[in-house]
Amino acid sequence: MPNITLHKNGAVHTGTVNNNTNLVVRAGIKQFPYPNLAYKCGMGKCATCACKVLAGAEHLPPPNWKEKRQLGDLLNDGYRLVCQLWITHDIELTQDIEPVPTKS
Ligand code: FES
Repeated sequence: MPNITLHKNGAVHTGTVNNNTNLVVRAGIKQFPYPNLAYKCGMGKCATCACKVLAGAEHLPPPNWKEKRQLGDLLNDGYRLVCQLWITHDIELTQDIEPVPTKS
């Protein structure tokens, strides 16, 4: 079961989730990382859920077309759209850098 570390507003939030978990879906049903993960659409359209991956990026799939459209060059800085990720390994994220500038 993946361990999640989320840095937000200077605090560190940790939790363990089931394998193949989407953190935005979990937050939507008020489970960790609720209420500490910012998100809106859940569909890769708004970039509100954008996080910088501090550790564990090597276990993530390549960015999909929605992430490429919303994040552009920020992908090279380690940003991902959390609503587009199904977590299968430990991961450390930060959402401390806001607002994330998007291309749209
Ligand atoms: S919640 Fe809108 S892009 Fe992820």
